[in-house]
Amino acid sequence: MQHTYSPVISSTGLFTPEESISNEELVESFNTYVANFNQDHAEAIAAGDVEALATSSVEFIEKASGIKARHVMAKAPILDTAIMEPRWEERSNDEISVLAEIGVKAAEQALARAGRDVKDVDAVLCAASNMQRPYPAMAIEIQQALGIDGFGFDMNVACSSATFGIQTAADYVRAGNAKSVLVVSPEITSGHLNWRDRDSHFIFGDVATAVLVEDASMAPAKHWNILGTKLKTVFSNNIRNNFGYLNKATPETVDAADKLFIQEGRKVFKEVVPMVAQMIIDEAERLEIDPTGLRRLWLHQANAGMNRLIAQKVLGHEANADESPTVLDTYGNTSSAGSIIAFHLNHDDLAAGDTGLICSFGAGYSAGTVFVRAVG
Ligand code: COA
Repeated sequence: MQHTYSPVISSTGLFTPEESISNEELVESFNTYVANFNQDHAEAIAAGDVEALATSSVEFIEKASGIKARHVMAKAPILDTAIMEPRWEERSNDEISVLAEIGVKAAEQALARAGRDVKDVDAVLCAASNMQRPYPAMAIEIQQALGIDGFGFDMNVACSSATFGIQTAADYVRAGNAKSVLVVSPEITSGHLNWRDRDSHFIFGDVATAVLVEDASMAPAKHWNILGTKLKTVFSNNIRNNFGYLNKATPETVDAADKLFIQEGRKVFKEVVPMVAQMIIDEAERLEIDPTGLRRLWLHQANAGMNRLIAQKVLGHEANADESPTVLDTYGNTSSAGSIIAFHLNHDDLAAGDTGLICSFGAGYSAGTVFVRAVG
C-alpha cells in the first residue's frame, strides 16, 4: 500500500516477570540487613567511627512514592541479606541474553496484537536505561531472535528511552525510511538498584515493553495516530549512575555506591514537575490541542505525587484514576517502560477520536511527549 508518511502506534506488548516483592517483604529483608550491620559494627558505631544504619518502613515507601510492590527477575537473592542483588547462571554466547529474551517476549506480544508478520517489520530499536553489554547491540540480538530482516540499534535516554524511541521510529516513518519499527524497552532495573540504600531500595522493578510504530497505510483497523512528538533534555546530576567501561581505570572506587543508581529525590521532584507540565502545555498548544480536554494521561511511573501535580496542571483539575492511571502500586518505577505499561493496560476502553498523552521524564534530565488519537 502507498506510504502515507503518517506514523501510528499499531500495538503494544508487555512482559511481566512472574515474581514480585511486596513492600513488607522488602522492608523485612532490608531491616534484617540493617540490624546485622549495626550489630557487626557495634563497637565502631559506639566509638563514632561508623554511622549506624537506619531502618526502612512500609508506611514511608507507600506514602512517599505510591509503590506497594515490584516485579523482579530473581526474588530470592535480592531478599537474601547476604546477597541483595539479582543472581542467575551466566549464559553462553550461543544462548539469548536475559535482556534480549524479555524484550523478545514483549515484542512478540506487540506483533501478535497487530497481526503483523515479521517479514513486514523494517527495524528494531532497543530503547532502555541499561544495556547488558556494549556490543553487539541488544536490538540486533532481538531482531535476529524475531527473524526480522532490516536493522537495529540501541539507544539509552534513561527513563525517557521509550518516548525517544517512539519519536525516532516515527521519524523513520515520516521520512519514508521505514514503514514498521519495533521499539523494545527491556528494563531489568533490579541490576542498577542499590538494594542496601534506604533512600532508593524500594523504587525500581523489572519489566519489558514493546511499541510497534508503523505507517498508517499498514496499521490494523484499531490503532493510535501519533499527532506529535516532542523531546527535551536538560543536564542534571540529580539522577546519576557512574557505572561504565572506564571504571576499571580507577579501581579504588570500582564498587562505590555511585556505580549504581543514585539520586537527590526531593530535587528531582521539585525540578522535573514544572518542567514537564510546561512542556506538555506548550506542545499541546503547538498541536492545537486543548490540554484540559485530554481523555487520558499515561504518565511516567516514578512517583504518584509527581503525577498528581503534573496531571493537575495539565488538566486544570485533580485527575482521577481513569484520567491518569497508575501502575506504580504493582510495578514500581520501571524506568522507560512505565508510561508504556500504563498505556498498554489502560487504553482498550477509549473511543475512536479520544486524544491522550504518553509522557516520560527522568534522568538526564530527559522528557518526551507523544500525543495520540484513537482510530477504529
Ligand atoms: N524508610 C523510612 N524513612 C525514610 C526512608 C525509608 N526507606 N528513606 C528516607 N526516609 C526518611 C528520610 O531520612 C527523611 O527523614 P527526615 O525528614 O527525618 O530527614 C524523610 O524520610 C524524607 O526523605 P526524602 O528523601 O526527602 O523523601 P521524599 O519525600 O523526597 O521521597 C522519593 C523520596 C525518592 C520517593 C521521592 O523524592 C521521589 O520519588 N522523587 C522523584 C524522583 C524519582 O523517583 N526519580 C526516579 C528516577 S525517574
